[in-house]
Amino acid sequence: MSLAVALSKGKLWKGAGLRFRAAGLPFPDAEGRKLVVELGGLRFLFVKDVDVPTYVEHGIADCGIVGSDVLREADADVYEPLDLGFGRCRLAVARPGSTPQEPRHATLRVATKYPRLAAAHFLGRGRPVEVVKLQGSVELACVLGLADCIVDVVETGATLRENGLEVVESVLECSARLIVNRASYHARREEVQSLLKALESAVPQEVLA
Ligand code: PRP
Repeated sequence: MSLAVALSKGKLWKGAGLRFRAAGLPFPDAEGRKLVVELGGLRFLFVKDVDVPTYVEHGIADCGIVGSDVLREADADVYEPLDLGFGRCRLAVARPGSTPQEPRHATLRVATKYPRLAAAHFLGRGRPVEVVKLQGSVELACVLGLADCIVDVVETGATLRENGLEVVESVLECSARLIVNRASYHARREEVQSLLKALESAVPQEVLA
């Protein structure tokens, strides 16, 4: 059976494709609605980014590519042998630029797609918070008054700027990671190692240019 790789067609798709192709590995086209694609000895499973750790942890996928933000939030029991280096961004606390500082004892209402990481961040600072879980467009929560601040991914910073928010604290530096199911890492050692080696040493043309 081919080694199964879980991937999302989201923000890491382009970087993953560049790296696979530079490594001489097969990589599927983004077009098409098939969710499982067999190609050149690999089996690609297209899942939502937040589900990549779940598929890998449960062994449905042997490997996966996922952002370290999503991986830390999922807290999945998987190996994480390779930082692929693309998809760099940071998880940060942001709030409206004009907000006055609240007293330290006030409970902050925090909107986020990352409730576990957000709660841990503020717990570490001894700051009481109420976490509101959202699925997307998190910046809106501040704009519309659902929350005092957000914990969200910042890449270019454009979404924050265009919505009048600014970063007040960094939570986590993030990048794309290759993750591996713990059983597959041992049982399919040769195949996993050869995938790892190929991806590790490959430098995409776009980076060389
Ligand atoms: C992410 C993140 C921010 C935005 C940051 O959202 O949640 O909203 O990208 O990128 P920027 O700093 O380059 O503006 P995504 O596009 O994944 O959509 P979502 O809001 O629906 O989660």
